[in-house]
Amino acid sequence: MWEEEGPFQPRQDSDSEDDGLAFPRGLLYPRPLAEPLSQPVTPRPPPGIAPRVFLDLFHPSPPVFALTKSSIFVRILASVSRGGGGGNRALRLPLLLPPEPKLMRLSERKSGRLQTNGRKSTFGSAKLALSGDIPSAFGLAGFLGKMNALVATSRNFKQAAKLLGLDSKLEKSLLIPFREIKVECTIPKDDGTLASFVGFRVQHDNARGPMKGGIRYHHEVDPDEVNALAQLMTWKTAVANIPYGGAKGGIGCSPGELSCSELERLTRVFTQKIHDLIGIHTDVPAPDMGTNPQTMAWILDEYSKFHGYSPAVVTGKPVDLGGSLGREAATGRGVLFATEALLAEYGKSIKDQRFVIQGFGNVGSWAAQLISAAGGKVIAVSDVTGAIKNNEGLNIEKLLKHSVECRGIRGFSGGESIDPSSLLTEDCDVLIPAALGGVINRENANDIMAKFIIEAANHPTDPEADEILSKKGVVILPDIYANSGGVTVSYFEWVQNIQGFMWDEEKVNAELKTYMTRGFKDVKEMCRAHNCDLRMGAFTLGVNRVARATVLRGWEA
Ligand SMILES: NC(=O)c1ccc[n+]([C@@H]2O[C@H](COP(=O)([O-])OP(=O)(O)OC[C@H]3O[C@@H](n4cnc5c(N)ncnc54)[C@H](O)[C@@H]3O)[C@@H](O)[C@H]2O)c1
Repeated sequence: MWEEEGPFQPRQDSDSEDDGLAFPRGLLYPRPLAEPLSQPVTPRPPPGIAPRVFLDLFHPSPPVFALTKSSIFVRILASVSRGGGGGNRALRLPLLLPPEPKLMRLSERKSGRLQTNGRKSTFGSAKLALSGDIPSAFGLAGFLGKMNALVATSRNFKQAAKLLGLDSKLEKSLLIPFREIKVECTIPKDDGTLASFVGFRVQHDNARGPMKGGIRYHHEVDPDEVNALAQLMTWKTAVANIPYGGAKGGIGCSPGELSCSELERLTRVFTQKIHDLIGIHTDVPAPDMGTNPQTMAWILDEYSKFHGYSPAVVTGKPVDLGGSLGREAATGRGVLFATEALLAEYGKSIKDQRFVIQGFGNVGSWAAQLISAAGGKVIAVSDVTGAIKNNEGLNIEKLLKHSVECRGIRGFSGGESIDPSSLLTEDCDVLIPAALGGVINRENANDIMAKFIIEAANHPTDPEADEILSKKGVVILPDIYANSGGVTVSYFEWVQNIQGFMWDEEKVNAELKTYMTRGFKDVKEMCRAHNCDLRMGAFTLGVNRVARATVLRGWEA
């Protein structure tokens, strides 16, 4: 039974005590989004909520108007039976709720009356605040991370535009994508039936050069997310100071459920549909979630049928087809160079620091190897299978061998196994999240002991955690700069393909170091000029470069 607690007034301050109901700044839906999501959220009912009521719960639009990791605020239409004694003071909803998520607050505005089973009921709209593990209870895990990424990108851009004093028309123009492409990709499946998939490519900005960004194959690919990621690529390539704009694309499919030949057919059909809108000097795709060098090889082959041999049309290719040496390690190596540059600023070096790394995939394992080789002590590492710690420093070579042989780090004998959820709050000097987005949030930010956080993953830090950590004096090197080593070496790959000349790996690594070190210096200069932190330093740097290129080209005519 739910008791009414008076009108529901979400609070706007993020500094208030944490009762699970405060609306954190920057996480309101849909208000802070540049573009509201086009699809309403249709989560599945948590166990214990009757489907009929659940449908009511999520019917009005927009049903979910705020969502955080621990709270969801939904508008409902529900049958509400009146408590005895008249009036609406004690409204009772005939719903069964599971222990989680827990009802925190309910307000109701009646709009009609209903007579059910001889009992008077009101039929109205209500706002419902629940707390608990909302993303998993409602099948929304992933959505929250996405929301944070979208909201954070838009928030950071707006703050940067304000600091730079950008003309409001220019600001608006920088946000609007250059072109959004949506295509239908129909392929014959191996069993002879037809299957249809929707492919997207959002080309955000080309003021500084051809647009650049990944192509992901994922069942949750949606245009709004692709849009925000394309925008982020525009700022990231500008921070790296490589002559590119930003783009992102994908196909809504589950690559794990398609055979290799189905994936090849799908990639070729997608390429046929967009071949005249991508190109060496127009838009250069790369691998992303669910795609790999093989996908790029198919795009290259299909594109070349229309336009002749064109290795530079994609990056992240197999080396045999013109991929660059050093590309595989590039993001992790970039993380090393970025960390060196940051530590030098504080009179420290890799050698005297203790590191904790979350994620031991491409980025995390390369960062760990290179940091360890440079004399840093990697004292704890985690992956999806578990977490391992050794205060004397883990032997990364042996850990890597173990992780390849055992498909994960669990069971490694060179350290003690620890609770993966405590990894981020381990005592260390430098924390490197290199796995998922949103892992540093208001639940754990206060407990983080690291002095430096290097964002190797995309969006590992929630905007709320950002504020908490900044008050604690933790220095965060933002993803938009820290993990730009990958796209920088993609640029080198494109340059080599255009030159028709292959660089040796030393040259690739030396050039990467030059770019990363210069990038840090540029970010710091913006921090000084605008008296801001490194995240805003990076955003003002990127946005300013794109704005300058846009104005120089003449954007108002
Ligand atoms: N690969 C690149 O070039 C590149 C470039 C820029 C940014 N990034 C970002 O870096 C991050 C990692 O990318 P990647 O290419 O290394 O991916 P990957 O798939 O190779 O590795 C991901 C790692 O994270 C681990 N992981 C997954 N869930 C975890 C959890 N709950 N706790 C701890 N570890 C967990 C996995 O076990 C794996 O070791 C992503 O955020 C990605 O967007 C990657």
